[in-house]
Amino acid sequence: MSDRTPLIAGNWKLNLDPVEAAAVASALVPAVADRGDTEVALFPTALSVPAVVQAVQGSGITVGIQEIHDQPGGAFTGTNSAAMARAVGCAWALIGHSERRQLFGETDEGVGRKVTAALAAGLLPMVCLGETLDQRDAGQVEHVVTRQLAAALGTLRPDEVATLTLAYEPVWAIGTGRTASPDQAQEVHAVLRAWLRNHYPAYVADQVRVLYGGSVKPGNAAELLSCPDIDGALVGGASLKADSFAAIVHAA
Ligand code: PGA
Repeated sequence: MSDRTPLIAGNWKLNLDPVEAAAVASALVPAVADRGDTEVALFPTALSVPAVVQAVQGSGITVGIQEIHDQPGGAFTGTNSAAMARAVGCAWALIGHSERRQLFGETDEGVGRKVTAALAAGLLPMVCLGETLDQRDAGQVEHVVTRQLAAALGTLRPDEVATLTLAYEPVWAIGTGRTASPDQAQEVHAVLRAWLRNHYPAYVADQVRVLYGGSVKPGNAAELLSCPDIDGALVGGASLKADSFAAIVHAA
């Protein structure tokens, strides 16, 4: 890991109702109190956000929304606006998760619009990227992730890009128990950082954090997090219990 501040984020997906989410968050607060400068963020379902915001109050743990629309409001039944997420205490917006891309028709361009909307509302975008197994087998990893990255960043200014967090999540490693090896992950993280270095002033690539996601567990976190371009983890299944998530935070 570099001198970028490590960040461990939990993506709770469609799990943990408000009562359950508050219980996990409350258990997590003391369990990660000795985390040093490692940052911790939680992404509950939108309905559980207020309960989690309240449970982590004063702990330094931050909260994010899993999905926003690109418009601030209007006739868009069923979604969340970035400003409203901010108003209930969110600091982050998760954008472009592969489940959104695969199950809900999220496009590269849509991701770019949502990044802009998040920044406009004062939310920190966490942008997910990653290839499918077919794309990896076809040798298209670099092509796919840099295409996703370019579309996510669009015409943002360098100082805006520098505030983003990326999460490289190979689709074949999400929820499958199959983790990318540290070498496989580091290789793609280095590709993303090199792309940033080629397109923006040097401080941008130095500053942007790139998390790894995909079956991160207490047993594999330390090895992944020791890679030079891996600045943290986006954790799904293992973030649903305070003890396993805390163990990953301590690995950082
Ligand atoms: P997983 O999910 O840790 O359960 O593989 C990661 C994610 O989808 O963000």
